[in-house]
Amino acid sequence: MSDWSEHYATRVSHMQASEIRELLKLLDQPDIISFAGGIPDPALFPREEIAQAYQRILGDPQLSAVALQYSISEGYLPLREWLAGYMGRLGVACTPENILITNGSQQALDFVGKLFISPGDSMLVAWPTYLGALQAFSSYEPRFDVLPGENSNRTLESYTSQGAAKPKFGYVMPEFQNPTGTSLSLAERERLLDTAAELDLPLVEDSAYEKLRYDGERVPSLLALAAQRAGGIDHCKVLYCGTFSKSIVPALRIGWIVAAKPVIQKLVLMKQASDLHVSTLNQMVMHEVASARIEDLAANMRRVYRARRDAMLAALDRHMPKGIHFTRPEGGMFVWVTLPEGIDGAELLKRCIEEGRVAFVPGAAFFADRSCRNTIRLSFSLSEPAKIDEGIKRLASILKLEMAEMTHAA
Ligand SMILES: Cc1ncc(COP(=O)(O)O)c(C=O)c1O
Repeated sequence: MSDWSEHYATRVSHMQASEIRELLKLLDQPDIISFAGGIPDPALFPREEIAQAYQRILGDPQLSAVALQYSISEGYLPLREWLAGYMGRLGVACTPENILITNGSQQALDFVGKLFISPGDSMLVAWPTYLGALQAFSSYEPRFDVLPGENSNRTLESYTSQGAAKPKFGYVMPEFQNPTGTSLSLAERERLLDTAAELDLPLVEDSAYEKLRYDGERVPSLLALAAQRAGGIDHCKVLYCGTFSKSIVPALRIGWIVAAKPVIQKLVLMKQASDLHVSTLNQMVMHEVASARIEDLAANMRRVYRARRDAMLAALDRHMPKGIHFTRPEGGMFVWVTLPEGIDGAELLKRCIEEGRVAFVPGAAFFADRSCRNTIRLSFSLSEPAKIDEGIKRLASILKLEMAEMTHAA
């Protein structure tokens, strides 16, 4: 095999295979109970509605001529018009000119990295944060620093002190964060906006799980709050990334960015250079399905996932030994577990797969510095409640063995 390493650009050294992608392969083994992949349950996909929409569009000569042709990079106008109304209902007054359709919100994160980061720039993320975002941003060779907030002890001064490079932007998931499942309260959102204003820091708000709230009151998005403060979306420095992947289906790859018009215009140039536009056929299908069904589809998902979230929390309460801490998310797909110091999530995973046929994601993957190895992420989206209980029971029994062995060794 020839050696390619010296031919690659420096950014390639920051690209690592995702642990999650590797672990997804485990989902194919039928005896494994997997809490690993944070993906939707395919039983909830609106298969027939999607099939009918494809048929309707492709069966109509005029619609199909549009659907199958090249198109503008901004995205299919009726979908952007509908999204402008949708965002308006979330408290964000905007127009289609404030919206770019992306190939899933993952592409939005890549574009945001391309837009803001030059090699060596500082940027702020939560500690832990979404692994896919770390991967997307890493290509642009930033230095990751901790976003101010509840879990960080950083003072404002530490970002602005002499010699400290001004961070270029902060990436934040205010709703049901991946991987912790936790959300920012209204007061925390307001404080974050205050800090961002002090630092003149653009914020990128990832709202992937926005539709999956099971309890509690909806809290306005950072973009809604910032636009209210600034007197409109065109005057504020928050970019909002949305997606249909968690509320309808991921496979059509439809996400969107909402931001001030000048930012959207720059992002449109990136879209053009990258892949011209999202498949118009898929945008038209998503427009039909979302405009007719998003609320009842999401309500059904919430009903199913809420029961699974409840089952997971009940199983954790029932089976986990003392000293194990876990989050109690109001929505989303994840519970975050903190193990005793000295227990390594990756080692525990190996043992759980071999001895317990149960899988999850070791938490270190979600930290920009790969720290906090005594954490794990559990996803409840794919398993029925009875299976969840069985999986947590197996995980807890192996964890108890590990803890006993650690005490014994000490
Ligand atoms: C927080 C978060 N953002 C973005 C994405 C990417 O989603 P998509 O590209 O399917 O819209 C995911 C996927 O799991 C996610 O968890």
